[in-house]
Amino acid sequence: NKGNYEHYMQKEIHEQPESLKTTMRGRLIRGGSCKAKTVLLGGLKDHFKTIRRSRRIVFIGCGTSYNAALAARPILEELSGVPVTMEIASDLLDRQGPIYREDTAVFVSQSGETADTLQALEYALENGALCVGITNTVGSAIARHTHCGVHINAGAEIGVASTKAYTSQIVVMAMLALAIGGDTISSQTRREAIIDGLFDLPNKVREVLNLDQEMKDLAKLLVAEQSLLVFGRGYNYATALEGALKVKEVALMHSEGILAGEMKHGPLALVDENLPIIVIATRDSCFSKQQSVIQQLHARKGRVIVMCSKGEAVSVCPGGLGRVIEVPHVEDCLQPVINVVPLQLLAYHLTVLRGYNVDQPRNLAKSVTTQ
Ligand code: UD1
Ligand code: BG6
Repeated sequence: NKGNYEHYMQKEIHEQPESLKTTMRGRLIRGGSCKAKTVLLGGLKDHFKTIRRSRRIVFIGCGTSYNAALAARPILEELSGVPVTMEIASDLLDRQGPIYREDTAVFVSQSGETADTLQALEYALENGALCVGITNTVGSAIARHTHCGVHINAGAEIGVASTKAYTSQIVVMAMLALAIGGDTISSQTRREAIIDGLFDLPNKVREVLNLDQEMKDLAKLLVAEQSLLVFGRGYNYATALEGALKVKEVALMHSEGILAGEMKHGPLALVDENLPIIVIATRDSCFSKQQSVIQQLHARKGRVIVMCSKGEAVSVCPGGLGRVIEVPHVEDCLQPVINVVPLQLLAYHLTVLRGYNVDQPRNLAKSVTTQ
């Protein structure tokens, strides 16, 4: 049931304030004035000791689910102190990469049925790792075969391009980071800021959804382009990959997410006055580096569109050069949840304007159950 929306993808984008609330329901505890703020993940409570002691945490997934894990990686590393590595399921299988008994392998999958992820799970089980699932589908193969896990509870996702599952996956993995991380005095302020940020996140997502018309206007501007680059780094490297994936899979436009730190090692050669480039430069510890990236793109007459924190257009566009997308500012590790929303909207409007099928993109399936 699409309700008042024309497409499931559109409905699912606009549903995110509610789906995020459901994801967090019963799992965030604010406590009284003297009680600590905590996270409760019922499915993992008997396993945290093992996870904390593991030699590394390996995230495994495909497509959007892989990108969600990449978005959560920095906060998991920061709070747990355990090294976190990333594996695309098919690549792990192709290489028969090392997985050890001392590893915690985390399988991220909306459907819980993706063939490559499922086969990587069987492989990790054979190798003796603790296998944790993060899935949206109760009773799915991945939920059943993992030792333990967390359901993201985002509600059924119908659109082939994943939107609300992505933001809920990131939120679950941020909660996982909080739950694994020790409750040390030094990290207390940080943890509380993240928990407060999580409580407020649905409101901030509602706010960023107000950019709908602005993203439609931007889509009109970009509708006939051949290609679109998205530059990100740090917490928002994943946002660049995911934004580009949305544009590619539904709008059928070539798009590439680029790690801004790699700009000088190739991508800079593509820059001219025609190719549109979105640079994600919201306020975090990478901000000044992104400012310098923007300057260098302008120096080469690049066609730059900057995503920045609200009120900061002047510091990212000196002299009013280029277009800006201003988004609400949240705690750095939660910013990917906000920043992906305008890119989801852009991909949606580009698709409608280009006349393609939004919910059933050409050649793609919601759940890839064959290899
Ligand atoms: C559970 C109930 C929820 C109830 C809540 C009350 C289910 C599915 N969930 O939620 O309805 O409101 O208790 O406290 O009955 N699991 C895996 N692999 C996965 C995902 C989950 O093994 O990929 C396991 C978990 O380890 C857990 C069970 O499935 O044993 C349910 O997980 P989850 O729904 O996340 O647990 P709760 O949030 O505690
Ligand atoms: C398919 C979907 O390619 O599988 C993507 O079209 C999805 O949207 C990918 O990200 C992985 O699916 P899942 O269910 O394992 O998260």
